[in-house]
Amino acid sequence: MLRQAMLALSKSRRAERLVTTSPLTADVVDRYVADDVARVVGALTGEGLLVSVDHLGEEVTDEAAAGQAVAHYLALLDLLPAGADVSVKLTALGLRLSQRLALEHAGAICAAAAQRDLTVTLDAEEHDTIAGLHAVHAALRREHPDVGVVVQSYLPDSLDRCEKLGGARVRLCKGAYTAPGAYTRPADIDRSYVRCLKVLMSGTGYPMVATHDPRLIRIAATLAELAGRDATGFEYQMLYGVRPDEQRRLAGLGARVRVYVPYGSDWYPYLMRRLAERPRNLTFFLRSLLSR
Ligand code: FDA
Repeated sequence: MLRQAMLALSKSRRAERLVTTSPLTADVVDRYVADDVARVVGALTGEGLLVSVDHLGEEVTDEAAAGQAVAHYLALLDLLPAGADVSVKLTALGLRLSQRLALEHAGAICAAAAQRDLTVTLDAEEHDTIAGLHAVHAALRREHPDVGVVVQSYLPDSLDRCEKLGGARVRLCKGAYTAPGAYTRPADIDRSYVRCLKVLMSGTGYPMVATHDPRLIRIAATLAELAGRDATGFEYQMLYGVRPDEQRRLAGLGARVRVYVPYGSDWYPYLMRRLAERPRNLTFFLRSLLSR
């Protein structure tokens, strides 16, 4: 219930105005969103962590705004060290205007990234964008085989998706939105996650295990070992500000750990999704408001 309410708020312009104009939210935003992306990336990579950087923004409604999002990404690529990744939301590149436009824009980012030894991963968004996401991903892979894509295990067809994505870089997550017909019980989402993990680990692609869930992290490690993958054969991914100690612990054991680093002024929907994920996050948010 609380999660649904928070996700509904993430789309409310009124709530957005209220939250984003309050000086009291700064501490909470700073916890999840990089204030200075170059500094944060430098600090994380200096500690042996990998990064995937997201220029926050989604759902553009005109071509000019989509073009601006591309320009932001092209400038961002110049700041990143080799081996970094950028996470891209196709709705920010114009997917809701036209699939062709999103493909063209994502292709420009992939081409610029390849020149700098960087990779691109396409985030998964609302359920009505998933068909477009995979169509664009399939088209991009012809020229950029290392472009990655996200699969959300709360979608019942996620296993089928993973089976069709042989050879690809696939980031597996639980899913941060809502979708008709999606699994809603945590146990069902987790079971689906494990089924997908089995396919990805035993396949020919590169699995990216995006979760903070200790049980799924342990299962991923076991499945990787059973599939004969060494530490370079897959990676863990976690969000900036979430379980930073665990990120460092896994990296200290020799695992590849990539931190998803969002930055930019359009942080409202991202923050609301993070608060929706964990009631404890919401308590932290409310307490930091009340303690002022
Ligand atoms: P969940 O939130 O169910 O938590 C499971 C357990 O993890 C908890 O019980 C607790 O033990 C531990 N835990 C979680 N948060 C913690 C915290 N703050 N402190 C301590 N312990 C904590 N979604 C999407 O729809 N599209 C996308 O493209 C992406 N991309 C993406 C990239 C990356 C790198 C990550 C990590 C996640 C995404 N997501 C996403 C978000 C994802 O779908 C999901 O909403 C969140 O990761 C939360 O789910 P968890 O798997 O962490 O488990």
